[in-house]
Parts: sequence; C-alpha cells; structure tokens
Amino acid sequence: MSTLPRIPMTRPSIDEATIAGVADVLRSGWITSGPQVKAFEAAVSEYCGGRPVRAFNSGTCTMEIALRIAAVGAGDEVITTPLSWVATSNVILEVGAKPVFVDIDPITRNIDLDRVEAAVTSRTRAILPVDLAGLPVDRRRLYAIARRHNLRVIEDAAQSFGSAWNGKRIGQHVESDGGFVSFSFHPNKNITTIEGGCLVLNDEREAKLAEQYRLQGVIRSGMDGMDVEILGGKFNLTDVAARVGLGQLAHLTEFTSKRRDLARAYFELLSQPAQRLNLGLPVADFSNSNWHMFQVVLPEDRLDCARAQIMTELDAAGIGTGVHYPAIHLFALYRKLGWRPGDFPVAELVGRNILTLPLFPGMSRADVERVSATLVATLTAHVE
Ligand SMILES: Cc1ncc(COP(=O)(O)O)c(C=O)c1O
Repeated sequence: MSTLPRIPMTRPSIDEATIAGVADVLRSGWITSGPQVKAFEAAVSEYCGGRPVRAFNSGTCTMEIALRIAAVGAGDEVITTPLSWVATSNVILEVGAKPVFVDIDPITRNIDLDRVEAAVTSRTRAILPVDLAGLPVDRRRLYAIARRHNLRVIEDAAQSFGSAWNGKRIGQHVESDGGFVSFSFHPNKNITTIEGGCLVLNDEREAKLAEQYRLQGVIRSGMDGMDVEILGGKFNLTDVAARVGLGQLAHLTEFTSKRRDLARAYFELLSQPAQRLNLGLPVADFSNSNWHMFQVVLPEDRLDCARAQIMTELDAAGIGTGVHYPAIHLFALYRKLGWRPGDFPVAELVGRNILTLPLFPGMSRADVERVSATLVATLTAHVE
C-alpha cells in the first residue's frame, strides 16, 4: 500500500463562492426549478452563440428528449457508436427505436464516419455520435452525411463541454445544421451541476416541446390555466444544482486550460515508453479537445495479465483509474437483442483494453509524473 496521498481518477473543483451561493439558494425559500435554472440556461445559451437551451436533471434524459422532439420512435433506426457510456444507446431503446452500431475509428476512438453511410437504411432517422473523452467527431463530415440522407443529428456532447470544432465551440451551430447538442454535468464532467444536463436546440418550437417533455407534458397559461397534450416525465433541474453550474461555468476556461496542460505533461512523459510498451495514446489534439479524459489502450497481446490486475496494482500505489467503456453491444441486454462478439472488432479491442488515467483541474504536474512513472513501471513488470 502506498503512503502517498491518493490520486483519484477525477475530482470536481467547487469553489467557496459556489458553496456560499448554494447556501443562499437553500435559504431563499425556492430550491427547485426557478430563477437559478433560468440564469443557468441563459448562460449556457450565451456560451452556445444564443441558441435556445433547456436544462434537465441528467445528460441521459436530454438525449431521450432530443430523440422525442425529433419524433424518433418505434420502427426507426438511430446510428451510434458501440464505445460510449451505455446511456447513449439505452435512450434509443427507451424511445422504442433500434440502435444501429457502427464500429469506431481506432485512432480517435469515435464513430468511424467512413462506415456510417453503409449503415443507413430506409428506417434511419438520426445519427447519435459521441465525442469520447472530449475529442470532437468531425462536425463538417458528420453534418454532410446527415444532410445527404435527411437525418437529424443528436450530438452526445456529454463529455465535450468546452471543446471546439474548427474554431467554434461545441454547442454552437456548425454551418446551419439543425442538430441537437446534449451536454451532461455529472460530477466527473468538465463542469458539474452534481447531476444534470442541457439540451441545445434550434428554435422556440423545440424549446417549448423540451419544456413539455421535461415536466409531465404540462402547458400553463394565464393565472390558472393548465393543459397536457403530450406525455412528459419528471426531468427538471433544481435551482440548487443550477447554482452549482453557474459557479462552475465561471471557471470553464481555466479548467480547460489546466486539463490541456496536464494532458501535455502526460504526452511528454508517456510518448517514449508508449512506443517501447506498445501502449496506445490518445490523439494529441490541443485545439479542439477539452481533455475530459486521458485514456491509454493497454497492449493486450504483450501483457501477462488482465487489465484488472494493472488497475489493482495502480490502486495499491494510490492511483485511481477507470474504464470508459466496455463495448455496449456485448452487455447482456444487447446480446439478448442479437449482437455478438466480433460484430465491432475495433470497439471490442479498445473496450477490453482502454484505461482512464487521473485527470482533473486540481491535479499538479507532480501528480502526472507519479501516475506516469507508476504506470510505466507496472506495465514494464507485466510485458512479456
Ligand atoms: C458519453 C456520455 N453520454 C451520456 C452520458 C449521460 O449523462 P448523465 O450521466 O448526466 O445522465 C454520459 C455521462 O455519464 C456520457 O459520458
């Protein structure tokens, strides 16, 4: 067991001003959805170039609601990646549609856009790509494919708040695209509302629908008017959570630049040993990615042990790691629906061997040095 302080895989940075702001909200007499949610939506909207934004209590329901607004349902197909948090494809099942997985690009670890068009059928209604670890999918190519086949795009940007594409922030319009952008503010994301998410929309009609889906389908009018036209759920964000989000937004630029610096340090320390060990490193992107995660891919065919053993040894040395993610189509639920090992070999290989190293704004360069040195020593002891 290490006597050094533990370096967790991630840890949110919440400042004292935010904590005081939360206390003010708690004392205010209004703690569920109210003025703080409106202020948070307005701030995210401004960040996204003025597009309408609605906040929810998770990044999962934001995607489900986007699918509902896009009228995706039973009998429809949605193209997505098999390497993501399972929420990405669960929401497709949730609305009654069928996920159609397309294997990933081994370099970016995102959906392989070269393979997307071959998966389009007469039932395809939408594409739901994921910016894994914050590295954006090529938006120009993505929207060109969507336009050619008349598909809606729901960008699962859960991990890419603070990332950019071609000089524009993720969340701003790419050309005049009509896409939805879904953010998550789960505690491990680059900014958090504890739990929560935001959907970036295209017009007021979509924004009104998002509000209906968010709260039981209710439409209010006048002092006492109420009607329900569509079936909605209970997905509203609280003012307490929104106040956390407002406090976090103020630090976004600083958080992103800190993450980029730490990622640079990982490359500096790992590039050479990675060649010797055949360790896969992420794309060294310092203009687009928000460096939500720093993920390596272990050299499966050279190791004398499984990934879990490497994680156990790193854990014993006081270093937290994670797996983001096993390939979705191999989960029992998805196997029951017909997917099999071998269907998406690149996602399977990466899913078996990917390892997320610690990366969060509160880390220091010395922490990166310790993680890198321990990882290299651990792998060196296990390569054959
Ligand atoms: C890629 C991806 N999609 C969707 C989600 C779902 O977000 P949430 O946990 O806020 O529901 C997450 C977050 O965990 C995610 O990482």
